[in-house]
Amino acid sequence: MNINSKLKWGIIGAGIIAHKMAEALKINPDSELVAVASKTSSKAQQFARQHGIKHAYSYQEIVNSDAIDVIYVATTHNFHYENTKLALKHGKHVLVEKPFTVNATQARELVRLARRKHLFLMEAMWVRFLPSLKKLKTILANHEIGELKLIDLSFGVIISPEYAGRLKDPALAGGVTLDIGIYPISFACYLLDELPTSIKSMARFSARGVDELASYLFRFPSGCLTTIKTSYNVQMKNEALIYGSEGYIEFPQFQTGEHFTVFKHEGNNEVKSKTEVHEKNHPNGFIYQVEEVVQSIRAGKTESHIIPLDETVAIMEIMDTMRKEWGFRYPFE
Ligand SMILES: NC(=O)c1ccc[n+]([C@@H]2O[C@H](COP(=O)([O-])OP(=O)(O)OC[C@H]3O[C@@H](n4cnc5c(N)ncnc54)[C@H](OP(=O)(O)O)[C@@H]3O)[C@@H](O)[C@H]2O)c1
Repeated sequence: MNINSKLKWGIIGAGIIAHKMAEALKINPDSELVAVASKTSSKAQQFARQHGIKHAYSYQEIVNSDAIDVIYVATTHNFHYENTKLALKHGKHVLVEKPFTVNATQARELVRLARRKHLFLMEAMWVRFLPSLKKLKTILANHEIGELKLIDLSFGVIISPEYAGRLKDPALAGGVTLDIGIYPISFACYLLDELPTSIKSMARFSARGVDELASYLFRFPSGCLTTIKTSYNVQMKNEALIYGSEGYIEFPQFQTGEHFTVFKHEGNNEVKSKTEVHEKNHPNGFIYQVEEVVQSIRAGKTESHIIPLDETVAIMEIMDTMRKEWGFRYPFE
């Protein structure tokens, strides 16, 4: 890629989330979305018309194109491994939607392939790049609430009909953990800069055999505990409560929220100060991860230090461990 030219993007999978990425790419001045690919040619054409994209391709055509630098994989989870592998094999950098793959075995193979070919690869864990989350991380790193003791997270929604099809379908790697639970898991690992060494969990299963409601308990090497509740059919508070030795933080709607409150004490039960923190995020939060991909590729990097590949693999391993505890395997595994 020429340092002065725009990064040329292609999208595999003309579904719901791909539209949000297409909009984000229009905003980034250093990016150009040149092609979209779908298994259904009319769907690719319709998507291309809607976003003013030059080419509507098949998967093979998009990876064969010399005009494309980076592929965004936006298919359902079960296809991430094969779509990413196809793109890497054809020399493309790849940004792949979360979850990176269905299991850690697939994830490790993709990371090996990208490293062997010196290509950029990243899981699209977009919330890590939001200004609000960066602000929170800085406050914690400055020990404003002392040593972290407990992170309590809830992330549960009654899934809307447009998402329900894939989330409830075992053949598409449905279930709450890979789709929604992954966010609070990733959030805790990012805030603490470490991975859990002890994992306990329980899940409740749907009639079709996917996890619909789950609770996880982690212990991290620092001693911090994390409790997570998540569901695709229970509306939860979707709040982060972060407890330290000298205070605590309440962060409503922590995934994308722009306001949180820092309460400080002096190691006793008396709150000494209460500070409201406001940090704006762009309405299309994908723009920050797009910037990261552009800057990384321009700098010749093959991964992002915000969501490193070894951490992506480790988070897949956490989800594998819990699924094993539940005796839950996908039909294609
Ligand atoms: N970052 C976020 O905020 C966010 C939000 C939502 C979703 N996601 C992630 O993005 C990915 C796609 O989610 P989505 O909601 O956009 O999915 P979707 O619209 O249901 O499907 C995306 C694409 O996957 C393929 N697909 C879907 N159902 C299929 C089926 N039954 N058989 C064969 N192919 C099928 C199609 O690809 P073709 O067009 O090639 O046929 C479709 O266009 C998921 O991995 C999800 O975790 C991320």
